[in-house]
Amino acid sequence: MEKLNLISGITPNGAPHLGNYIGALRPSVDFSRNINIKSYYFIADLHALIKLKDPKKIKKYKIEILAAWLAIGLDPNKVILYCQSAIPEITELMWFLFCICSKGLLNRAHAFKSLFITEKNYINMGLYSYPLLMAADILLFHANFVLVGNDQLQHIEITRDIALRFNKIYGKYFILPKIKVDKKNKLLNGLDGRKMSKSYGNTIPLFCTEKTLYNMIIKIKTNSSKASDPKNIKNCTLFQIYSAFASKKEINYLKNKYNEGISWIKVKKIVFDYINESLRYSRDTYLRLLKDYTYLKKILKKGENIARDKANIIISELKKIVIK
Ligand code: TRP
Repeated sequence: MEKLNLISGITPNGAPHLGNYIGALRPSVDFSRNINIKSYYFIADLHALIKLKDPKKIKKYKIEILAAWLAIGLDPNKVILYCQSAIPEITELMWFLFCICSKGLLNRAHAFKSLFITEKNYINMGLYSYPLLMAADILLFHANFVLVGNDQLQHIEITRDIALRFNKIYGKYFILPKIKVDKKNKLLNGLDGRKMSKSYGNTIPLFCTEKTLYNMIIKIKTNSSKASDPKNIKNCTLFQIYSAFASKKEINYLKNKYNEGISWIKVKKIVFDYINESLRYSRDTYLRLLKDYTYLKKILKKGENIARDKANIIISELKKIVIK
């Protein structure tokens, strides 16, 4: 049986946080262990350029994402790991897509529509074209599934639209990819109760010192109910974060404590202890890997060679189709 292709990318515009871990990193490791799936995991550094104009930071975040992926269990011998900028065929394909994409389709994209425009924060063409770079990432490797958060749904729809348009003009070539959202891994909320996101500045780093993790969890917004008051698990960030890590039995235990009444400080200690222990092993591995840049570079090089070989074949086929 032919394997299905799954692709996932992470933009290196900040250090990996707990939301990335639950929403993208952990599910990607789960999927990579499925023998019926061939997975492509990449660091979307060209996407990072849209906002970040600091090469040192991009490099730092790139290394951190790769080390985090490996530390939590991604096996570089089983998946294809690469950096987007190492595969020039992606931007080559993007041009083919540019030429069949109406401006109106991109006008509807939320990535730039939702951006708060200031002088510093203007819409550059990278931001406007963001969905087409993403479509090229996906279509180049004939991905059947794209592993992303719910917030990326529109980008997958645009990818399908553009693939369909290409197939209509040139004859069927591209697979229409489907979104793969890991149902049990919903988006996490951050310190202030809104979705955990770098753009809200409310993130909890995935790998930091125990002290920082403790101080962060203590800061999570709660209400002013007394220790003896029963507490509602709905819309409770602490409960939500705990549930993303703990087993069913442990979740039920905390649920009972909420019903009986428990002080917020006690809840925070329980959540801290649990997360801290869950992350201990991978955190140690992560810190060790960060010091071994040569090894990390070697891993990327290997993945990039495989990805480029595949990409080259596709681009030659495409050139025959669109230019002759
Ligand atoms: N836009 C994605 C995000 O911010 C990252 C990304 C870029 C991506 N290209 C992709 C994810 C292709 C999946 C497939 O989360």
